[in-house]
Amino acid sequence: MRMYDLIVKKRDGGELTREEIDYIIEGYTDGDIPDYQMSAWLMAVFYKGMNARETADMTMAMVRSGDMLDLSAINGIKADKHSTGGVGDKVTLVLAPMVAAAGVPVAKMSGRGLGHTGGTIDKLESIPGFNTSLTEDTFVKQVNSIKIALTGQTGNLTPADKKIYALRDATGIVDSIPLIASSIMSKKIAAGAQVIVLDVTCGSGAFMHNIEDARKLARLMVDIGDNVGRRTIAVITDMDEPLGNTVGNAMEVIEAVETLKGRGSRDVLDVCLELGAWMIAGIEADMADTGKAADRQMLEQLHDKAYERLETTIKDGSALDKFREWITAQNGNSAVIDDYSLFPSSKYIYDVKADRTGYIRYTRADEAGMASMVLGGGRAKKDDAVNPAVGVEICAKTGDYVHQGDVIARIHSDDEKMTAESEKRLKNAFVIEDNEVERNMLIKEIV
Ligand code: URA
Repeated sequence: MRMYDLIVKKRDGGELTREEIDYIIEGYTDGDIPDYQMSAWLMAVFYKGMNARETADMTMAMVRSGDMLDLSAINGIKADKHSTGGVGDKVTLVLAPMVAAAGVPVAKMSGRGLGHTGGTIDKLESIPGFNTSLTEDTFVKQVNSIKIALTGQTGNLTPADKKIYALRDATGIVDSIPLIASSIMSKKIAAGAQVIVLDVTCGSGAFMHNIEDARKLARLMVDIGDNVGRRTIAVITDMDEPLGNTVGNAMEVIEAVETLKGRGSRDVLDVCLELGAWMIAGIEADMADTGKAADRQMLEQLHDKAYERLETTIKDGSALDKFREWITAQNGNSAVIDDYSLFPSSKYIYDVKADRTGYIRYTRADEAGMASMVLGGGRAKKDDAVNPAVGVEICAKTGDYVHQGDVIARIHSDDEKMTAESEKRLKNAFVIEDNEVERNMLIKEIV
């Protein structure tokens, strides 16, 4: 086999066999195939696509490129949740303690933010002392004792994806549905959970800008997971405006704590309840182990019951208690829950005012993410450091009526010079219209 021939085959719209895909992924991981040939092949995939079988074969080839996490030492069926990326997405911080408080183990691996999107690890690191790199042994023991642990990527999981993602990022080949599907699903499958719940974000702040593409990505990932025996459920959620009222690391943790105290914004809570309920429903369906035909209806019933259970964990304070226990277990200072002044905070807070009267409509969530990134809240390049203190507080959201001069956002900044750039970015993120604006439908579809 020659890489040259496989590039030409894909360039001309051909379908690759499993052996050919294995050859490409193994050859590139081992360094036998050079970057220039791999990027030519990836660009051919970008333009000509891959069918579901090729995508599944690429996913499994990437899984086999490294280790697979063995979660068998953790008692019970494990569920994982993954978001395709968003702005102001603090879902894991709320959902994980809620699900654990409902008695279901959460063994989660999370990533860091890049570009306009944030990452859970960066957010948790704004809690003084919080340790985000657990050994496999500590990780397993912690889940068994308190039902919750979260760590950054450990071990040699999917090295092929690491190399391919870096190449795609440097050559403008990120936005390809089969490449995104295989990248995400290879990591989820290697991470070992039997139930996988995917938050497929859709809108200006997400990879998928319209519902048709979000649906295609969701379907492809669900089929890959189901075909390798992992119950996979995708929830398509809106990402035309940031989720909740904050974008920035420490600020998002505070918002998550407020949500756990029952005082957060409704949109954050709704997404957490929806995804968390599907995680629990997926586990319970696996435990019941009925035939496939009854699955959907049974899953929906289990979901509705789990939803109520999760709401109770907020009402009775058990989710908040679980968050406290989790922070302490990972060496963080859990006093932050009662005293937000223990979080890093910015030097300046600058009010952004409405320049006219009317209804707010967020159209560019990515620009709201950039408004935080330029302050240092996110990273432009993989190795950049992030500033936990800075970010943007959003005081008026889509559908809200504002008067000229009202404060519609607050920029928390450490650098006066970057504040103006942040304000410019933020003002690109929304428009103010004369006519009433409908609020966005947050949960769009379940796949
Ligand atoms: N997230 C991933 O892990 N991979 C992609 O390709 C895109 C988003």
